[in-house]
Amino acid sequence: MPQSKCEMCKEIREGDDDRQVVAEIMARSFLPTQITTVSWEGFHFAGHEIRITEAKDCYGAVVWPSALVLCYFLETHAKQYNMVDKNVIEIGAGTGLVSIVASLLGARVTATDLPELLGNLQYNISRNTKMKCKHLPQVKELSWGVALDRDFPRSATNFDYILAADVVYAHPFLEELLLTFDHLCRESTIILWAMRFRLEKENRFVDRFKELFDLEELSSFPSLNIKLYKAMKKNRRSA
Ligand SMILES: C[S@@+](CC[C@H](N)C(=O)[O-])C[C@H]1O[C@@H](n2cnc3c(N)ncnc32)[C@H](O)[C@@H]1O
Repeated sequence: MPQSKCEMCKEIREGDDDRQVVAEIMARSFLPTQITTVSWEGFHFAGHEIRITEAKDCYGAVVWPSALVLCYFLETHAKQYNMVDKNVIEIGAGTGLVSIVASLLGARVTATDLPELLGNLQYNISRNTKMKCKHLPQVKELSWGVALDRDFPRSATNFDYILAADVVYAHPFLEELLLTFDHLCRESTIILWAMRFRLEKENRFVDRFKELFDLEELSSFPSLNIKLYKAMKKNRRSA
């Protein structure tokens, strides 16, 4: 069906907003001006300069654009989604930028990823949060779907927020990822999830996700193929 003039104007307006915000988000990142022995990338969030050392050998070794989108959202919505003294877990934390920003905003953070990522993750987190945060973040292994009852028992964990950036792509652990979201989520837990769409597989994951969670799109950045979602467990008593 041909688009009405009104719909076209709306799309153009949204395109302009998208480009403007994306330019703002990307401007938070910078590179060192001098050649250094250890390569790092810099970011400005939550009133701090954050230096992230990237490893080059796997998905979790670089900062992905979804992480910038989520950091920007946390900073610019700090009143609405107040992180101060909140219990927060990040899954698939990679280099740790999102966890660092949440910590700088006052949260009590547990940053998690696969075992081989934890060294670099711990290094970045320590370097950027020591003496700067109310609560020193923890780094812990969480391989999706593995030993959840042992390492994150439901009786002992109560997260206010679950943060996730770019955790859905062509990997074979999508069911385990869904299980992990479900395991960590309580009735009042809010999931903030920045999702980059690349293939049809990702759309199917969103459909599966919607079976368990109420999903709300908070913002969309078509030029990056990224959407930011808020989700909460379905059929909550308080809903
Ligand atoms: C595309 S990277 C995103 C990293 C970071 N969130 C960011 O946006 O910069 C995906 C992350 O998921 C992690 N990951 C992949 N498979 C995983 C699994 N089975 N269990 C736990 N983490 C996993 C990777 O190690 C990596 O850190």
